Amino acid sequence: MRALMRFTPLRHALLGLTAAGALGAGQVQAGEVEVLHWWTSGGEAKAVGELRDLLEAEGHQWKDFAVAGGAGDSAMTVLKSRAMSGNPPAAAQINGPEIQEWGELGLLGNLDGVAEQGDWDALLPEVVADMMRHDGHYVAVPVNVHRVNWLWANPEVLADAGVEMPTTWDEMFAAGDALREAGYVPLAHGGQPWQDATLFESVVLSQGGSDFYRRAFVDLDEQALESDTMIEALTTFKRLRELMDEGMPGRDWNLATGMVIDGDAAMQIMGDWAKGEFTAADMQAGEDYRCAPVPGTEDAFTFNIDSFAMFKLGDPEAREAQFALARLILEPEFQKTFNQLKGSIPARPDLDMSGFDDCALRSMEDFQDARDADTLVPSMAHRMAMRSDVQGAFFDIITNYFNSSDMSADQAAERLAQAASLAL
Ligand code: BGC
Repeated sequence: MRALMRFTPLRHALLGLTAAGALGAGQVQAGEVEVLHWWTSGGEAKAVGELRDLLEAEGHQWKDFAVAGGAGDSAMTVLKSRAMSGNPPAAAQINGPEIQEWGELGLLGNLDGVAEQGDWDALLPEVVADMMRHDGHYVAVPVNVHRVNWLWANPEVLADAGVEMPTTWDEMFAAGDALREAGYVPLAHGGQPWQDATLFESVVLSQGGSDFYRRAFVDLDEQALESDTMIEALTTFKRLRELMDEGMPGRDWNLATGMVIDGDAAMQIMGDWAKGEFTAADMQAGEDYRCAPVPGTEDAFTFNIDSFAMFKLGDPEAREAQFALARLILEPEFQKTFNQLKGSIPARPDLDMSGFDDCALRSMEDFQDARDADTLVPSMAHRMAMRSDVQGAFFDIITNYFNSSDMSADQAAERLAQAASLAL
């Protein structure tokens, strides 16, 4: 399923679908937009509810097409079958290079009119705008910027075990011992491939730095992938299992966050959608929970941008509604409320950040610093860094290595390099 572009019969089936007709003459009519997304946790559902309300306030109808499953793997599978049957939704959450894969299939609509009216070229950082265009035309709209390399903690639990927020892996393992002794799970985790990959990419960033991370996950440089640095990162990654509990296989990420919220676990390494869960539980950043960059990644920022790609539509009313959705997403009102609930920072950097909590302010500042210092890197685990077929192969290797005892770190590194060589 992941190798959409390479699977020729599917590609042909998709290319055979008819494109939409010409745009109607500008009159605003109420229409329905079907929106595919994977925002089903407590915090996520509250956040996406804002968008639905804004759209409905303009008289359009929101048809919810939520497919549960963190990081959207199930949502992407469902989207592919809907597209194959010639019936894609009007809007779908599609992130990173996959926007280009869908653009190449000729299925995405043109948002240039909305973009021009909203001055998206001026509003968006070039790197973000670039991701939203296919063949020079806007086909998608960015919702937010998530930071992935975060460590979350329950301060009461840390204090009870007499430990501080760890800033190195050595401190993390030492804190782990004290936390276990005090009866807590040191690190909450959900054993699903994307969560394993989320943890792994942060360890790679920590041990190799941002240049190494880019060589490995963006350039798919085989030497970097099978280097001693990668083997060390794989070793530390696997050692982190010592800090986890037996209930982790298959656990959803928000249930892992729930363990930190309830004080059963001390910490979680997860993107800042976890902050949406703390917020939904009425907890205050800095008081009831703490955030810090993953040990050793203070100077870097792993970004994950959520966006909605818009499919070609024939019906002019549906098209009006789709354009309204695209416009609303970048308007200040939505950007502020949504991102406060979601845990992310706005996609447009010009917004006044009053009302955002300390973790969001730190994220905004670190994003800008990382951009200036060239330490801003795309998330491998969240579809930002590489083609979807390569990402799928990496997920398999990472998760098999993490969860079984029959693959050594050297072998895992070698397999990553092999997977990269097949991709080039
Ligand atoms: C998305 C987030 C989402 C998270 C968990 C990430 O890939 O970018 O918006 O909250 O997955 O589902």
